[in-house]
Amino acid sequence: MTNAQATETYPGELADVPGWFPPLDQMLFTWFLERQQKQGMRGDLLELGVYMGKSAILLGHHLQDGEKFTVCDLFEGDAPDGANQAEATKSYASLTQQAFERNYLSFHDTLPTVIAAPSSVVTEKVAPGTCRFVHVDASHLYEHVHADIGAAHDILMPEGIVVLDDFRSEHTPGVSVAAWEAVLNRGLRPVCLSTQKLYGTWGDPEPLQEELLDMLRQRTDCGLSVQEAAGH
Ligand SMILES: C[S@@+](CC[C@H](N)C(=O)[O-])C[C@H]1O[C@@H](n2cnc3c(N)ncnc32)[C@H](O)[C@@H]1O
Repeated sequence: MTNAQATETYPGELADVPGWFPPLDQMLFTWFLERQQKQGMRGDLLELGVYMGKSAILLGHHLQDGEKFTVCDLFEGDAPDGANQAEATKSYASLTQQAFERNYLSFHDTLPTVIAAPSSVVTEKVAPGTCRFVHVDASHLYEHVHADIGAAHDILMPEGIVVLDDFRSEHTPGVSVAAWEAVLNRGLRPVCLSTQKLYGTWGDPEPLQEELLDMLRQRTDCGLSVQEAAGH
């Protein structure tokens, strides 16, 4: 992962916020979150790994009355092990909690609940079965992603959505191993894949897939292919 440039200015639009959140994923997040809202699903939102807030800002736009949004990041704090510290130093050296909060408050009146700590603490802070959407985008090292996926499973509601970032990049094999391990051995059902992210559920993916296909077939700006692999 390359370093996104931090800015000292207040962002006017999401494109001004440094980070890694491609337009296709912005569209897919919006679709999944709006579908949940249309279906009357209520539940909290969680993001592990916010960096400067690019995806968190979009998530915050979908918060319904009475729902809670929690984010977790190391920010300037120490990582729990040397490999994670090296990852943070290499890719996120310019990150501060203040920069995240400044960016977030350029788009929203109030901050989410911010956990400035390793993602391993999240199960102590967010109750089981409470979230409708969890974005796993913190460390890309296998041991951390494996644990983050386990936490997402515990924290999600039965039909909730988990999104795993960087599940297939050449520089993040740990995410790939943890993601496909979750599919093959931990009951995760993939709903769709974008270039960067795997969207999954521990509920039933089929109604979601049918509606998603309907939506995507009407768009001329998205390539689409349907694949089957190992029964998924
Ligand atoms: C790829 S960036 C997140 C990108 C962000 N979601 C966006 O939209 O641009 C990964 C973030 O995870 C954080 N991180 C790395 N290891 C972590 C850990 N063990 N626990 C919590 N956060 C961690 C980093 O500080 C960094 O901000």
